Amino acid sequence: MGNDTLTIIDNRTGKRYEIPIFYGTYPRYGAAIRAADLRQIRVAEDDFGLLSYDPGFLNTASCKSAITFIDGERGILRYRGYPIEELAEQSTYLETAYLILHGELPTRAQLDSWVQNILAHTLVHENLKRLMEGFHYDAHPMGVLIGAVGALSTLYPDAKEIFDPEVRQRHIWRLIAQMPTLAALAYRHSRGLPYVLPDRELSYTGNFLAMLFKTTERHYTPHPVLERALDVLFILHADHEQNCSANAVRSIGSSHPDPYSAIAGGIAALYGPLHGGANEAVLRMLTRIGSKDKVPAFIADVKAGKTRLMGFGHRVYKHYDPRARIIKRLAYEVFGVTGTNPLLDVALELERIALEDDYFLSRQLFPNVDFYSGIIYQAMGFPVDMFPVLFAVARTAGWLAQWEEMLLDGEQRIARPRQVYTGADLRPYVPLAQRG
Ligand code: CMC
Repeated sequence: MGNDTLTIIDNRTGKRYEIPIFYGTYPRYGAAIRAADLRQIRVAEDDFGLLSYDPGFLNTASCKSAITFIDGERGILRYRGYPIEELAEQSTYLETAYLILHGELPTRAQLDSWVQNILAHTLVHENLKRLMEGFHYDAHPMGVLIGAVGALSTLYPDAKEIFDPEVRQRHIWRLIAQMPTLAALAYRHSRGLPYVLPDRELSYTGNFLAMLFKTTERHYTPHPVLERALDVLFILHADHEQNCSANAVRSIGSSHPDPYSAIAGGIAALYGPLHGGANEAVLRMLTRIGSKDKVPAFIADVKAGKTRLMGFGHRVYKHYDPRARIIKRLAYEVFGVTGTNPLLDVALELERIALEDDYFLSRQLFPNVDFYSGIIYQAMGFPVDMFPVLFAVARTAGWLAQWEEMLLDGEQRIARPRQVYTGADLRPYVPLAQRG
């Protein structure tokens, strides 16, 4: 064991404990003790043992994972060891999805077969269209997506065979393939537009744009710059290790339901404005601020605790989010095609002031992935409430990789945290007539 141990002296008893420390790939980030080793620390024989208390998992590793690495101090993000900058520059979303799920970049033959298998599953069951009809025209598309993905679980009962690798593989293709179709159905329903069938001749993101925006033209040809921009945005959103929604997917998956049920839970976790709903919240915030001259007053409100600067701050990044840097550059390429989004000036001014202000610097609050993504999505023609849906479509690959890694990890058990009970001590039931 060498020196890789932690010595704990319990001052309640004077007893001394030696607890092993283990490491991940990088000892600097992945040094950990097993929380269960704390259980031996007890005052009396019948004590439960010491718990570690960690609301919000600020300092708890819930798993060992080989998928994504983040160095939040240095602003580094890597999928399976590959820097996000290189993937955004050279990869495609489907290739990145393969990498995230399989651990290695595919050969040409592996990639072709992967892409074909996904594109072959893009059609959704006709019942899904009827399900859409049940939603009100102004239903938020994230609510619709949660319902639709949950409904998929009823259409594919064999998906419960989660320990059969072939079944798992088929449903992984299907989920990656059908998320854009469902997202497009939700959008078209909200607009009262007829649904557009998937087009296998187009790329994954090209087909998605076609299903969303095709109108009367015989063939929809996506603009190559916008198609590539969406693909890059999808690469940037594909995984982000143990965030709130990945944790939800793992947690739900740990009770062994089918993957559709677990992913529906992931979408629900993503929906909130502190997570994937932040891109929508940023756009609404920028619209409310309206112009550059209103920025100082808004910053004053943030500092007074009246509101949050959405798109800023991150649990892990204590530096500029590397995804935000790439997105900021990408915005100018998109604006070259669509024209500038006037809200960009408001966003740039917010960033300029915030990055000079001690409130934000001292709390290490920097722009995150959601700060600029919405400005691009809006310029591309997406309505604001579709922004988190785009995040969900892209994150599906990461959720599935996290789910599969959890299933195949022999150390994982059903997610079942402990609590420190702070309620009433034992007391006898008081009959209603005797209560004051
Ligand atoms: N605006 C103003 N103050 C903030 C912000 C913000 N966006 N974020 C954190 N703070 C302050 C917070 O008030 C607290 O200050 P104090 O110490 O004085 O109480 C301090 O910074 C620490 O904040 P926290 O809420 O304890 O940090 P957390 O790690 O629990 O939360 C977060 C992280 C992302 C939820 C939070 O920064 C936030 O709400 N940001 C805005 C929403 C957002 O942009 N979310 C998208 C995250 S990136 C995409 C994704 O992966 O989901």
